[in-house]
Amino acid sequence: MNEHAKAGAPYLTAEGLMARTGGRALQRVVFGAEAIDARVREMGAEITGHYGPDDDVLILGLLKGSFIFLSDLVRHIARPLHVDFIVASSYGAGTTSSGDVRLLYDPTAPIEGRHIVLVEDIVDSGNTINRLTKALESREPASIELCALLHKHIAEGLMLQPRWVGFDAPTDFLVGYGLDHAEDFRHLPFVASI
Ligand code: IMP
Ligand code: MG
Repeated sequence: MNEHAKAGAPYLTAEGLMARTGGRALQRVVFGAEAIDARVREMGAEITGHYGPDDDVLILGLLKGSFIFLSDLVRHIARPLHVDFIVASSYGAGTTSSGDVRLLYDPTAPIEGRHIVLVEDIVDSGNTINRLTKALESREPASIELCALLHKHIAEGLMLQPRWVGFDAPTDFLVGYGLDHAEDFRHLPFVASI
């Protein structure tokens, strides 16, 4: 528990962690809050430098997993941009991808002619990305880039390779910083395996 509380600093104390998990055990800290913060700042700077001054940039977050990553990331992108979200679901309550990706909410923002940055929490099987890439490309954006906090490097036939990756991730099931297990643990300020 102490290792986990430390990895959540400065947001967490040991008691704070206990309160958030309800005392359920996490296995090990994979990426601590400070390491995530440092990397997200770098990614924001990289995205800022990638686009020209006249590019119309739309940051499209894949809910729910990207909600914390996206909110931190956009605060480090130093250029005009818009934000919208897509809701897709492939996991239900299990820990392996069902392969059946459902689009539950479609962005209201126009896509055509805009530079889209698709923001994902984690690239796992790649099913979600492949399904979304197809749907988005048919709307004729100027470009689509993928920005993922975590990449497991196990996806085969990924239609869109991420241009920006926060961290290469182990193949363990990960929770925290937006990632859930059956909706639990999204609000932890670090990434841990369970
Ligand atoms: P994919 O379609 O298999 O690439 O899975 C994409 C989605 O599954 C991600 O956006 C996550 O929401 C979820 N996911 C994949 N791996 C994990 C994990 O280790 N922990 C929590 N969620 C995961
Ligand atoms: Mg999920």
